Amino acid sequence: MEQPILNGLIQYNTEGSYPWHMPGHKRRLNTIFPDMVENPFSIDVTEVGDLDELHDPKGIILKAEERAAKIYGSDKSYYLVNGATCGIMAAVSAVCNHGDTIIVARNSHKSVYNVIRLLGLKAVYILPEWNDELCMFGGISPDSVKKAVKEHPHAKAVLIVSPTYEGVVSDVEKISKIVHKEKMPLIVDEAHGAHFEYMSNVVETISATNYKNVAKPAIRLGADIVVESLHKTLPAMTQCAILHMKKGYVNEKKLDEFVSLYQSTSPSYVFMATIEACIEKMDFERDGKFLVLKQLVVDYRKKFAELANIHLVGGDDFKKYSNSDYDYTRFVFSVKNCGMETEDGVVPVTGQMLADILEKEYGQMMEMAGGNYVVAISTIADSKEAFESLLLAMETIDKQLMNYSYEADTILYDSLPEKRMEIYEAGTKAEIRVPLDDAVGRVSSDFIFVYPPGIPFVTPGEVLSKDCIRGIKRAIEFGRNVKGVTSEGANKNYVNVVKEIRNSWLPIRKKRI
Ligand SMILES: Cc1ncc(COP(=O)(O)O)c(C=O)c1O
Repeated sequence: MEQPILNGLIQYNTEGSYPWHMPGHKRRLNTIFPDMVENPFSIDVTEVGDLDELHDPKGIILKAEERAAKIYGSDKSYYLVNGATCGIMAAVSAVCNHGDTIIVARNSHKSVYNVIRLLGLKAVYILPEWNDELCMFGGISPDSVKKAVKEHPHAKAVLIVSPTYEGVVSDVEKISKIVHKEKMPLIVDEAHGAHFEYMSNVVETISATNYKNVAKPAIRLGADIVVESLHKTLPAMTQCAILHMKKGYVNEKKLDEFVSLYQSTSPSYVFMATIEACIEKMDFERDGKFLVLKQLVVDYRKKFAELANIHLVGGDDFKKYSNSDYDYTRFVFSVKNCGMETEDGVVPVTGQMLADILEKEYGQMMEMAGGNYVVAISTIADSKEAFESLLLAMETIDKQLMNYSYEADTILYDSLPEKRMEIYEAGTKAEIRVPLDDAVGRVSSDFIFVYPPGIPFVTPGEVLSKDCIRGIKRAIEFGRNVKGVTSEGANKNYVNVVKEIRNSWLPIRKKRI
């Protein structure tokens, strides 16, 4: 029997590498849910008997969702079995009609771009602050939101990502006030911050350097719709997520309809049961496992901060940009300005190289490799021993590195590409494939991005500039997972662009005399 997927999973498990990646349960179910059923098939049913309906909850599912709303302080919470992806698409669909304008952070997730395309929306982008020293996006400054809502008063909503993949938390409280002043709703993609609710009340109990505060959940800071992936930072199964809503700026009936529209009509009760177990258990563990995690984070942040070459990213790196906060459970290690001695001399160390060394030589699997950094996600499932082994690996690698200046993975995010048409419109045009080098000045018909995190160099409808192409080529050189570019032959890269009808090709119309 051929079972490549199962075999792949078994192989991954037996390799024994340690997961500094999602899902947040880290496959250590017994330590978190000792009473959870071991065989998921035994609770895998459909909507029968008194088991209620996710699409029209009136019984046990409604009760569970009401309990979630109470815990999170929302007016209504929705269980999501198709990930934060479906929640984000539902949120945007509930506040925008076809062809409307929406203001979104440029570092938005794919799901945001997808719903913009589906609804034929006009997108106005806000660039997050670009941290030049780290070559990394920071938070969204309240001033940039103010400017965008003033310039686009007809926009139907503002959507931001907070925290970012790299742990930067924007000033949601200030931003929500600015957005509400213009009578617009604020949607926060808090996919990476589902743990904020449970960490924020242990803030006063520990004080330590480099750990000033614990970011608060956006739904308690004035956001109108907040979408969280439970599976990223909490012990829930992959795809389990939740959407919270506050009444006032959101049409509840439309939100009900769209949350339903984007979810499977056969929602998994296994997922729903783990969402419920996760929320109840996390609520119980506020002063238990979360306190332990917080202490581990404090202790190990101090130790990682002593590395000579590898830099542990923290809130101080972003303080000068705006009033942003930081998720200290996120361990981002920057190797910008690091080099390594090889047979060919000293070479720059990229994020991918560090991730590869950590995986192959130390069995430490990172969540993500950026151009010059790696991201590790810590959760309540991580033990002291796990932190200790990561520290040991980092200390050993750090000793092999040296200070070395190099041109980092320069994706020039200091300005937005020129937009010639909206995303949906580009999707309706004929396209042609051209070599990347010949694409300067052409309109892209695809998204071109590095995954993860999926922030586009260009979206369909935007112009591929010289700088943009240089950034794409650099990302390819750095071994990053670039989507929207195909390779063929001797390293030749191709992209799809909108087929332009040049004036000279148009039939000449004869003037009537
Ligand atoms: C910022 C952000 N938003 C949303 C999502 C989608 O979350 P999910 O995987 O739960 O659908 C992701 C996934 O990586 C993400 O990084």
